[in-house]
Amino acid sequence: MNKQEIIEILSDDTKNDWLFRQADKVRHENVGDEVHLRGLIEFSNICKRQCKYCGLRSSNKEVERYRISKDEILMYAQKAVNMGYRTIVLQSGEDDYYDTDKMCEIIREIKKLDAALTLSIGEKSYDEYKAFKVSGADRYLLRIETTDEKLYTQMHPNASFEKRKQCLYDLKSLGYEVGSGCLVGLPNQTVESLANDILFFKDLDADMIGIGPFIAHEQTPLKDENNGDFWLALKVMALTRLNLPDINIPATTAMETLNPNGRIIALQSGANVVMPNVTSTEYRAKYEIYPGKICINENPEQCRGCIEGKIRSIGRTISKDYGFHNKK
Ligand code: 5AD
Ligand code: FES
Repeated sequence: MNKQEIIEILSDDTKNDWLFRQADKVRHENVGDEVHLRGLIEFSNICKRQCKYCGLRSSNKEVERYRISKDEILMYAQKAVNMGYRTIVLQSGEDDYYDTDKMCEIIREIKKLDAALTLSIGEKSYDEYKAFKVSGADRYLLRIETTDEKLYTQMHPNASFEKRKQCLYDLKSLGYEVGSGCLVGLPNQTVESLANDILFFKDLDADMIGIGPFIAHEQTPLKDENNGDFWLALKVMALTRLNLPDINIPATTAMETLNPNGRIIALQSGANVVMPNVTSTEYRAKYEIYPGKICINENPEQCRGCIEGKIRSIGRTISKDYGFHNKK
């Protein structure tokens, strides 16, 4: 699709059902009916950045900060593999405590388990990305958040849009499977910029794209802004499926925060991945990127059972393989 076509679909709500059905069909034809589960370990909520939308931004003094030790991370990873997860995702704020050596050590240990490994730990140098790759990391998630440079700059004090893009291209050139994505419903975001986001995903040749609605957090500068719209986020996700037919697309947690059936609706509108949390309850509420995050009172076993039941209820199955991007 070209930009104009994407803008037209985003601006017209009369054909939403058609769009979601098309995305579901393209998902079925290109990546099949299996859903890939990724076991998510949120191992540190300490962050040096100041993203205006994010509850973990460094100037939010009301969050109780935590770091999970290497041994405890490995315990969760082992547990996740025992529960049947074939991918482990390590996510954190940008926390310099876990320097290159510490991260590489954790990566090497996790790669002794039978699982693919995804990192989601923010902007790093080419050499650090390279060291993580050499240590065994398979994939990296780094959302561009928005491709509207002016909006990007407003949302990310002291950050550079060029650097963000460079990180994504560095990751690609190092041979990672690269996941990116955007927020939908940021203040002053336009449908034109959302169309550009989708074209950027294609230009990047992304392997995975996560889309979520913006949700206003009380302890951030955006506290008085409106939340993003669930259906608009779903439309951006469905259009991403139509334009990048064979990639992996998660049904994001933020979708389910705005709609109690959000992940199932997403799985029926183009998504084929879910990322349940595998850490214990004590950490979950503290990783409050946005308010109302689901599953904060559940434990790993409950989430596994819950999501398995939901996936089966719509006639889909859980994949037993690593869930790499199979390019067509
Ligand atoms: N609402 C929705 N999503 C958010 N993220 C950060 N803050 C918010 C918020 N307030 C998303 C960002 C980030 C991902 C880990 O969480 O897109 O990349
Ligand atoms: Fe956590 Fe449903 S996935 S309770």
